[in-house]
Amino acid sequence: MGMKVLVVGGGGREHAIVWKVSKSPKVDKIYCAPGNAGIASLAECVDIAPMEFEKLADFAEKNQIDLTIVGMDDPLVGGIVDVFEARGLRVFGPRKNAAVLEGSKAFSKDLMKKYGIPTAAYEVFSSAESALAYLRTEASFPIVLKASGLALGKGVLICENLKQAEDGVQELMVDKKFGSAGDQLVIEQFMTGREVSVLSFVDGNIVKTMASAQDHKRAKDGDQGLNTGGMGNFSPTPFYTEEIDAYCQKNIFQPTVDAMKAEGRPFKGVIFFGLMLTDDGPKVLEYNARFGDPEAQVVLPRMKNDLVDVCEACIDGTLDQVDLQFTDDACVTVVLASDGYPVSYKKGFPIRGLENFDGKEGYVCFHAGTKFNEKGEIVTNGGRVLDVTALGKDLHEARANAYKAVDWVDFDNKYYRHDIAHAIDEFKG
Ligand code: GLY
Repeated sequence: MGMKVLVVGGGGREHAIVWKVSKSPKVDKIYCAPGNAGIASLAECVDIAPMEFEKLADFAEKNQIDLTIVGMDDPLVGGIVDVFEARGLRVFGPRKNAAVLEGSKAFSKDLMKKYGIPTAAYEVFSSAESALAYLRTEASFPIVLKASGLALGKGVLICENLKQAEDGVQELMVDKKFGSAGDQLVIEQFMTGREVSVLSFVDGNIVKTMASAQDHKRAKDGDQGLNTGGMGNFSPTPFYTEEIDAYCQKNIFQPTVDAMKAEGRPFKGVIFFGLMLTDDGPKVLEYNARFGDPEAQVVLPRMKNDLVDVCEACIDGTLDQVDLQFTDDACVTVVLASDGYPVSYKKGFPIRGLENFDGKEGYVCFHAGTKFNEKGEIVTNGGRVLDVTALGKDLHEARANAYKAVDWVDFDNKYYRHDIAHAIDEFKG
């Protein structure tokens, strides 16, 4: 009998995970909680919310799930892995005491300082008064304010002057725009450089990195507008050279895994290293304890290994036996969003043209925010709706293919950036 796999989450990242798991010859049946209308073509969607840990564990027990893969940050930081493990269920992801690497920026900054992992200089504050006193007397601008906890990727403010920083402290620590995420504030030196994402598998002892990627966090063309969860992505990024990789492997990746182990918090799962390539060398901007979204959508299509094998090796502590490999081609994803995202937008519009992707080798349309309406039509159900993804022999071809495919689907209020992967035109390799 083949394996039964449960994936927790319901966005484009989880669609990419489910899609990759569906390629495993070992897997007979995939469930996804809660999933979405696109995921439903590959997995049975289960109506249990990602934070309902006991219900999910009941489901896994009752349905004899062999492996659960947790895609999202909230359940990981909340301790879903501990609940599953306590019930003897196999689960891929960090325990609560390790997911804190993403869940608390104060923790991760202190970890980096203690173990000499390169990152921007910072201070941590637990009261608005002390943060304001620091800003008024010691800070130089621009400066970065970060809510320590999870804030949907929106708790980071770049402040050009004292007034903006004072408003930021009010928003994050006093008005609690992101709730308890603002109980502690990290105030960090502003870094300049190119931002790259390196995702990695970790088995508690060693780390193996995946292909590099580059995100587009701002809503509008030219990297303008508000920060979003990500409007498009490409892999590999040519700016992440072999020399930079060698430096990061030695000074950032393995030292982070060693530091977590030394702290009695061995990390198993995916560490997503958000890096800034500064003039002083690569520095850690942030850690995430999961696949990126939409990084997963461009990295997993290039991964040669069976994802189930790699997840099992991480759980079993045998990652050293895995030869992790990626194809030599490139992948680009363009997010089709609802106009108005990330602030306010309408949902419920029927999506036309999804069938255009059927049978097209090298193209996938991952669903980020979709559902079935009462008529059984697939409709928009989120800010980010679809991730139109294409492979190519190189980044230029992958980008051209992705933008060609953007026209294959349509819905009212469709909005997307026209310049995803524009950075490749700036690369002087
Ligand atoms: N794309 C950035 C993230 O997943 O956090």
